[in-house]
Amino acid sequence: MTEPTRSFDSSAVQRRESQGASTLGVATARGRGCFAALALVCLVGLAPAPSQADDAAQVAAGKKVYDTYCVVCHGVNGDGKGLMGVIHRAQQSGIVVYTYPRDFTAGMYKFRTTPTGSLPTDADLMRTITNGIPRSAMPSHKDLSVEEREAVIAYIKTFSKRWTEQEVMAPIAIGAVPDYVGSSESIARGKQLYDDAGCVECHGASGQGDGPSSPELKDNWGDKILPFDFTSGGLKGGTSPTDIYRTFATGLDGTPMPSYEGVLEPQQGWDIVSYCLELMAGAQVAQR
Ligand code: HEC
Ligand code: HEC
Repeated sequence: MTEPTRSFDSSAVQRRESQGASTLGVATARGRGCFAALALVCLVGLAPAPSQADDAAQVAAGKKVYDTYCVVCHGVNGDGKGLMGVIHRAQQSGIVVYTYPRDFTAGMYKFRTTPTGSLPTDADLMRTITNGIPRSAMPSHKDLSVEEREAVIAYIKTFSKRWTEQEVMAPIAIGAVPDYVGSSESIARGKQLYDDAGCVECHGASGQGDGPSSPELKDNWGDKILPFDFTSGGLKGGTSPTDIYRTFATGLDGTPMPSYEGVLEPQQGWDIVSYCLELMAGAQVAQR
């Protein structure tokens, strides 16, 4: 197999990182640009005209589901300030972090197939609600009917005007997993890229989430957040090679985890996946 050797442009990552910088200021400024763009789209009259009665009925049904299953954590106002408050505490390298329920009023989502800074698809929300989010206490709701899950998705969208002002972008295309993923050559290339692309800064040389930047990281809500510890088991967004690739292609919005879309060539991405799997090897996949 002939695999081209590509040099890695680390300045591109720097630009990306500052673009996705995790401050509310940046997020708002970015949001505003998009709102303006969308307003234009609406003026031109491209916005779809949904059947309003059906929508209202679905939102009402979704509110019932929400008030039964979600409100205790995500709160009456969808701001993540439900009665349960702090619901997950973890300790890593002596640093304690708390994971709070998502604040839906920000309209910002971590686990998407769509590009950084954009809204998730309904399928993304369905996956999160169905599977839950490991290591965060967000439970699986696979026992709810599909209609109930669809309705609650419609309801949580009412908490943020991003959903009426912005379009959902198409998912980032991720091809089939190449055969070389997991080969020793790919792992070696991936290890180099893990350093060059700056993963090591946050995730650490041993992959334990203890890189030099890790003690300082905060999410967009100002709460301390730690990079993933690859030796600790399952990822929040799924543990297949494709899930890992998706994580750094899309970035996790609202967290310091940047998007590398357009920065890494596909082969470089899959080589990094090989190295991530290597870091995870031997670790038991965490039970949900
Ligand atoms: C026991 C508390 C709890 C309950 C109950 C709960 N959640 Fe969550 N949820 C969380 C936490 C915590 C997070 C944040 C996880 C993280 O950021 O790692 C979250 C995150 C989310 C996200 C954001 C995913 C993303 O991509 O950022 C969605 C959507 C969501 N929950 C929907 C729901 C819905 C709908 C229900 C009810 C059917 C529900 N949750 C019930 C705790 C809960
Ligand atoms: C600026 C710091 C930073 C950099 C650079 C960074 N990450 Fe992350 N990464 C994070 C944080 C913080 C999280 C945890 C997010 C959370 O738990 O919500 C994370 C989470 C992850 C996850 C777990 C996702 C999940 O579903 O649980 C993977 C995989 C990952 N990063 C891979 C990478 C790779 C590969 C690179 C380099 C190409 C990289 N990261 C660069 C900060 C960073």
